[in-house]
Amino acid sequence: MSRLDVTETFHGISLPGHLHTQDSLNYATQFQFKDSDTLIVSYPKSGTTWMQEMVTLIFSHGDPTPSQTLPNWARAPWLEQYYCPHVLSSSQGPRILTTHLPYHTLAPALRGSKAKVIYIARNPRDVAVSYYHFHNMAKFLPEPGSFEEFLSNFLNGKVHYGSWFDHVKGWTDPKKNIENFFFITYEEMCKDLQGSLQRVSGFLQCTLLEEEINCAQKQCSFNSMRDNTMVNYTLVSQEIMDHSCGKFMRKGKTGDWKNTLYEHQSHVFDAVYEAHMQDSHLRSTWTN
Ligand code: A3P
Repeated sequence: MSRLDVTETFHGISLPGHLHTQDSLNYATQFQFKDSDTLIVSYPKSGTTWMQEMVTLIFSHGDPTPSQTLPNWARAPWLEQYYCPHVLSSSQGPRILTTHLPYHTLAPALRGSKAKVIYIARNPRDVAVSYYHFHNMAKFLPEPGSFEEFLSNFLNGKVHYGSWFDHVKGWTDPKKNIENFFFITYEEMCKDLQGSLQRVSGFLQCTLLEEEINCAQKQCSFNSMRDNTMVNYTLVSQEIMDHSCGKFMRKGKTGDWKNTLYEHQSHVFDAVYEAHMQDSHLRSTWTN
């Protein structure tokens, strides 16, 4: 199947052109945040959809109805994608927003805001592998080539949404100016989903009863999400995501990169990781 092959460039970063326009990107950078907003931030393939599900379930006190009736992009729209103003115009209650944009592009809009920002990050080796598989099914992304080629582009930041290193370091820099900021890793969520739900709900000042947490945990497990058409992207047309080439809810594991990267690729990865992360407080988080 042919690729959509439309790209929008923004601050030197390439983005899928069927979702982003210069107008939609300007809208994001000039966005008027409300103090009641929650902004989920991530580099692609880091557990964005999972966090959207968790936040939805926290605000619904474990009631699965919103997660089972509204697609994730309609309840936690991407700020920078063209349909966002339309979704927000008809939304009620506290707004959940999502973004993959780098910190410096949203910093002016967030300055002085009390909006709650949740940053989710994942081992970049697993991100690279997940992103590669996603390129094979997502026809709005460029042809990935071989894994070797894709990995080289990923490490050089020459993929859509730019460099993983710049994204993570920008949003997690202790000198950044965000009043309400919460950081969590995909690995923590895999290890302790219930504890992660409790921590996120505490940050959102939306405390859940034990039975509500249990319902939320069940609904945002990998198996429930895999089978939920509102989050597994099977609602998206075949021209945009070809599900015969892979599944969006693919494996949902930590450390799967070990099944893909050869030893020499892993060594190159470690060296690039070290060069980029040596000045970051997150350096020791994903040493391998
Ligand atoms: P894999 O491709 O490694 O399976 P994003 O939403 O940022 O695009 O991230 C997608 C990745 O998160 C995919 O990783 C997907 O399987 C994983 N994921 C989504 N929901 C999950 C869940 N409930 N538990 C574990 N992993 C999940």
